[in-house]
Amino acid sequence: MSTAELAGKHLVLGMTGGIACYKIAELTRLLTKAGATVQVVMTDAATQFITPVTMQALSGRPVYTSQWDGRVPNNMAHIDLSRGADAIVIAPASTDFLAKLAHGFADDLLSTLCVARDCPLLVVPAMNRQMWSNPATQRNVAQLRADGIETLGPDSGPQACGEIGDGRMLEPAAVYEAITAFFTPKTLAGRRVLLTAGPTFEPIDPVRGITNRSSGKMGFALARAAQQAGADVHLVAGPVALDTPWGVYREDVQTAQQMHDAVMRAVPDYDVFIGVAAVADWRVDHVSAEKIKKTADRRIPEFAFVENPDILASVAALPHPPYCVGFAAESGDLDVHGEEKRVRKKVPLLIGNLGPLTFGLDDNEVILFEAGGRTKLPRADKQSLARALVAEIARRLPDQSIIS
Ligand code: C5P
Repeated sequence: MSTAELAGKHLVLGMTGGIACYKIAELTRLLTKAGATVQVVMTDAATQFITPVTMQALSGRPVYTSQWDGRVPNNMAHIDLSRGADAIVIAPASTDFLAKLAHGFADDLLSTLCVARDCPLLVVPAMNRQMWSNPATQRNVAQLRADGIETLGPDSGPQACGEIGDGRMLEPAAVYEAITAFFTPKTLAGRRVLLTAGPTFEPIDPVRGITNRSSGKMGFALARAAQQAGADVHLVAGPVALDTPWGVYREDVQTAQQMHDAVMRAVPDYDVFIGVAAVADWRVDHVSAEKIKKTADRRIPEFAFVENPDILASVAALPHPPYCVGFAAESGDLDVHGEEKRVRKKVPLLIGNLGPLTFGLDDNEVILFEAGGRTKLPRADKQSLARALVAEIARRLPDQSIIS
């Protein structure tokens, strides 16, 4: 998450009764940390699970629970609290509350707020698996979807009651991701994006190998940004210690050859390819089956190297290539090498990292090289930069109707 990706957003966070209420403390923290203002409204049942005091402390705003609360100046909390809101999010959304929403009931503050809203409504169901699969609940959820209400989850897994199945609430981080995705312009709707990220690892023997200091952060941030912009995303990742972005299909590989093979298998189904991985240029010709040991005469081992396939150039050379984007991290003279690399690899767009020290850092500064010239983007954290790059890439894609 970047520091302020929800800056300027005002959310009404409605809580209804359920044990998942404890997770909303963490969700509130994630939302406020990202710059959103969060107005918490709780049903009576929700206050049985977590106190308004806790939610007030975390949101930094008074919490409302009653329609008759006199703190709103004109005494119209059910209208005023949602005015100016960018969305109402109901989390957790109980079986009972989904039923009320589906039928337009307005018999407490939160349900009245929802009926009187003039902003989008998102619900995050949380309930026992039998309650979720009950035909009445399923009927209500179908009605909510038909009414344009967004349903986030539910998840599947162990439940507070000890049973296992569908109905548990998405984890706070996943709800956070879904909310940020909801607010992201869908510039890549209908597009299929294939990316590589991270380093590769080229073994020398069963325990040693050659790798580099790429953390994968930029590639993972781009995968997340592309998914949030509406694309179907397939991420081929070298060895990195990063969580898979929500909604992204991830395939793990080790070597450049494996990365190449994974990309070439997948690429016919994709219309954009972004090569962010720092792929090893060479691998040792013969990988030792045994750990290479020191010898009595202290002989230094010698290795012969062979060149790895260039994944980006191979994709760009296909008869019907996707729109190809490369990255370059140079230790000097980016201005010369960036454009030279773009032309050599035959890609329409190459993104040059300004300064080689970007590996592992959380922020970056880049120049876009293309046939028409170059564009510098301001230094930013990698999540914000990824969003900016997705917008730049989306703008350059050929019209969808002419993609075969
Ligand atoms: O390593 P180099 O500077 O040539 O990398 C530039 C671009 O080419 C990057 O997008 C990288 O992911 C890609 N590349 C590749 N296969 C290689 C080497 C680099 O796809 N073997």
